[in-house]
Amino acid sequence: MPIRTLFLFGTRPEAIKLCPVLRHLKSTPDLFDVKVCVTAQHRQMLDQVLAAFHVTPDVDLDLMLPGQSLFQSSSRILAALEPVFANLKPELAIVQGDTTTTLCGALAAFYARVPIGHVEAGLRTWDMAQPFPEEMNRVLTGRLADIHFAATPWAAANLHREGVPPERTHVTGNSGIDAVLYVRDGLANGTLSSGVDWSFLNPAKRLILVTAHRRESFGAGFERICLALNRLASRDDVEIVYPVHPNPNVQDPVNRLLANRPNIHLIPPLDYIPFVDLRRRAYLLITDSGGVQEEGPSLGKPILVLREKTERPEAVEAGTVKLVGTDENRIVSEAEILLDDPDLHARMGRVHNPYGDGHASTRISAAIRSFLRK
Ligand code: UD1
Ligand code: UDP
Repeated sequence: MPIRTLFLFGTRPEAIKLCPVLRHLKSTPDLFDVKVCVTAQHRQMLDQVLAAFHVTPDVDLDLMLPGQSLFQSSSRILAALEPVFANLKPELAIVQGDTTTTLCGALAAFYARVPIGHVEAGLRTWDMAQPFPEEMNRVLTGRLADIHFAATPWAAANLHREGVPPERTHVTGNSGIDAVLYVRDGLANGTLSSGVDWSFLNPAKRLILVTAHRRESFGAGFERICLALNRLASRDDVEIVYPVHPNPNVQDPVNRLLANRPNIHLIPPLDYIPFVDLRRRAYLLITDSGGVQEEGPSLGKPILVLREKTERPEAVEAGTVKLVGTDENRIVSEAEILLDDPDLHARMGRVHNPYGDGHASTRISAAIRSFLRK
């Protein structure tokens, strides 16, 4: 009998990293009976990904509230999951990453006595405030999980140090790299198209693509980031495109400080395929996103990371990512170094991706089968 396997997710990055895995498991219906439950912790940004990967959820809890607090989202998600487990009776639950949905999904599975697989396990900064609340979410999810899919040997070693038995830990690569390579190669060979008219971009200028949304930067951090972007935009050889996260804590400072400025395009979050396409055209990425850091080397772009600490040290060691925090002067000076030193820029872009080779989903599927056999 195929194993009843429930995928639980709710935000954009979880969807990007789980759609390749669930599609892979669905391709073997004799082995896996796959069901998909979305909390819709994100609404529009989740739907953008579901559409790109042609995934229709079996259950859509539609839980997002505008400006939701952590208390609201976590309590509502946990409560809404009880009947999902009661109705679907999964034999295995799969969660990904470190969001509120991840933690609540794992806790719900634990309460329902369903084994848990955690995709992208073992990331750590060892600082519960950075990123907040994600570091705590992934530590707790790791404690709840029964099988851990680590993207890299470093992440697996973190789990071993915390007492997770090696036989419960599998180094699989990051399934986000499966997604980005699929889209990158599809755009290159013409089987995919972004469908976006980029004619608003000035080909004579170098494109800096920006994303930022972390809670620990809300307030003063975002003010400094915006001031830095304003200074960079005053150079006449660059233009900035910033798809702005819909969180009101992001929208407010970004619109107040950056709207209608020369050389700055504030746009809504891009669908995944256009976002890959736009990065191919960018000179430099400035971001606090986890996923964007991982995908960078596959797109050959240097990345300045708007954080003091990272749970993804491999990209820093590989030389493709540099941590610049949220200090205005540091952001400007590090960006200017890359703008003014094309050799350094080329070296930072020419890096083997330490996060994966595009086959994480295959390895996760094999690891689940071996776990279930045992
Ligand atoms: C969440 C995750 C974070 C992840 C990020 C990816 C938690 C605690 N945080 O943060 O780890 O990096 O997603 O983007 O789970 N909103 C919309 N439409 C959307 C999505 C969000 O309007 O499609 C707005 C809503 O007002 C919502 C707010 O953004 O209340 C915040 O969303 P939430 O999921 O609580 O937090 P994120 O900051 O997106
Ligand atoms: N992304 C996207 N459109 C955008 C910005 C980001 O599709 O406008 C993708 C990006 O390629 C990556 C993922 O969203 O795969 C990262 O999500 P996010 O930055 O929201 O969360 P994090 O990875 O920091 O948890």
